[in-house]
Amino acid sequence: MRIDIITVLPELLESPFNHSIMKRAQTKGLLNVHLHNPRDYTPYKQGQVDDYQFGGGAGMVMMAEPLAILIEKLQGERKYDEVIFMTPDGSLFDQKAANTLSMRENIIIICGHYKGIDERIRQHFVTMEISIGDYVLSGGELAAAVVVDAVGRLIPGVLNDETSALFDSFQDGLLAPPVYTRPADFRGWPVPEILLCGDPKKIDNWRHEESLKRTAERRPGLLKED
Ligand code: ADE
Repeated sequence: MRIDIITVLPELLESPFNHSIMKRAQTKGLLNVHLHNPRDYTPYKQGQVDDYQFGGGAGMVMMAEPLAILIEKLQGERKYDEVIFMTPDGSLFDQKAANTLSMRENIIIICGHYKGIDERIRQHFVTMEISIGDYVLSGGELAAAVVVDAVGRLIPGVLNDETSALFDSFQDGLLAPPVYTRPADFRGWPVPEILLCGDPKKIDNWRHEESLKRTAERRPGLLKED
């Protein structure tokens, strides 16, 4: 999978993909993340990429032209499945959306800044708008990092143990069960005995019950969704 990220702050995104699972995904050639700065494509003087908004009001708006030039350059090189804009008024990102995106081949992600991007880019280039939660970040970069991480780890072959993503919270619509490691007794707080019984079926059943219990307590809404 190839992900092209359009950002005026590429430095912000250099670290998140250069460690741990995201780094391994790229080393294995399963994920390719490319960063592009619209400043390098702007036809305006001194790398200008933003301007005052028509009608007045505080805050600058990212101009259409540098974004359009960059998007069209990328689209001229390969076909993209989605052009995503990260924005707090997009549709809420969840595990289902991550699963769907992990099956795409090439996507572009645009990170907004300042007051946002010129609406005409949203109308004529963007195919999907994503919010990672009901709060406002200073820019779309951290939100893009969240999406790339959640999607990247679902690409087949990225996780060492393929089954481990299957047991993630949300993957089957439930929260994950509690987990324990050694020692079996820590400060007089023992591990649930069933985990030491050696019977995989009993353990699976217990985990499922714990998942249901945890979901009912913390996120009852998930049990009602189909
Ligand atoms: N940009 C600013 N806030 C955001 C959010 N909550 N989700 C996605 N992109 C954003």
